[in-house]
Amino acid sequence: MNPLAAHLSNFQESVIREMTRKAIEHNAVNLSQGMPDYAPPAILLEGIDEALKENDHQYSITYGRKDLREKISDKLENYNDVLYDSENEITITCGASEAIASSMLAILNPSDEVLILEPHYENYVPLTYLSGAKPRFVKLGQNDFKLDEEAFKESINDKTKAIFINTPHNPTGRVFSKDELLFLSDFCNDNDLIAVTDEIYEYIIYDGLKHISPASIDEMFDRTITISGFSKTFSITGWRLGYVAAEKQLMSGIRKVHDYLTICAPSLLQTAVLKSFDLGKEYYTKLRKRYQINRDYLFDNLSELGMYPINPKGAYYLLANVSEFSHSDIEFADFLVRDQGVATVPGSSFYQKNSSNTDTQKYVRFSFSHKLETLQEAVTRIEQKLKEK
Ligand SMILES: Cc1ncc(COP(=O)(O)O)c(C=O)c1O
Repeated sequence: MNPLAAHLSNFQESVIREMTRKAIEHNAVNLSQGMPDYAPPAILLEGIDEALKENDHQYSITYGRKDLREKISDKLENYNDVLYDSENEITITCGASEAIASSMLAILNPSDEVLILEPHYENYVPLTYLSGAKPRFVKLGQNDFKLDEEAFKESINDKTKAIFINTPHNPTGRVFSKDELLFLSDFCNDNDLIAVTDEIYEYIIYDGLKHISPASIDEMFDRTITISGFSKTFSITGWRLGYVAAEKQLMSGIRKVHDYLTICAPSLLQTAVLKSFDLGKEYYTKLRKRYQINRDYLFDNLSELGMYPINPKGAYYLLANVSEFSHSDIEFADFLVRDQGVATVPGSSFYQKNSSNTDTQKYVRFSFSHKLETLQEAVTRIEQKLKEK
């Protein structure tokens, strides 16, 4: 008897997280997983002290602290241009990851299909399978990663129930334009799809671009599940705090799943993160500047090394082309990390297995959510290794 559930054979553990384990094993600079080596804003650490004094050690309301949901509702109105009622339409989750899981488990039936833009953030595929449904991949344009309208038309069938939209996009750094989101809105409305939007990098955006929430586009509100969180914006990936917002009926299903999956997000940290709403506009401006400096540094240096990086417009990752150095992304990433060097993520982990896409083995992903000196150390090591090779 196989003791494990059959659907587990559809996927493997995360390659991103595996690369972090390899980085530790080989004492490498870890540019694989998107976790900053910056300290969180001091005000959040003060928030922890205050939460400890309040003895905030028990379960919170399942949906999350009421005052935190109210703050998120205001933020969604002011930054994302969408109105969600804090009482019935917002739930605090254990990271965006749990928000994605609860949403998928709430909306999918066994015969359903989910559209996933390729390349894609790893988690979407396993969570689709865990919900009993199947993924269908829609290729983004080669090299520019723009939406390819033809690929969308080919992907739809009467089983399609939902689509993941991730903007700013991991791993490509694309920030989908208003026109692209208008196309997606028509596509979702014409085919009666639910859009699950992952906006975890909504504040990390470059070159003066603006984040547009898909739910703010005409006729998308009722069919959109909006997901974001605190991990990336405040350098607190280990706090595990995210949230999901959706109109009342969708939210009633998501809350049912969330209730039995986790009961609630960590109470102490929900209290502490309230402080983040005291940070003014300057915080977000500085955040963008910091990451834009990092992006430019890594882009320029990897370009000089002949790795033809793709310049991201948002999020904090950069895909670099390693085909001149190795016939496989996995081999290259392995070589870099093992040789006391640098941990990256092989690009193939952002594509379906056995993909016909020719890009699959071309890239490795670098995270630049790190201090400039960390990036400098990584570049020095890569330079040495490439010269030796
Ligand atoms: C696109 C995307 N969504 C979600 C997550 C996970 O977010 P959280 O830490 O809030 O679970 C990540 C983490 O890297 C991500 O890149």
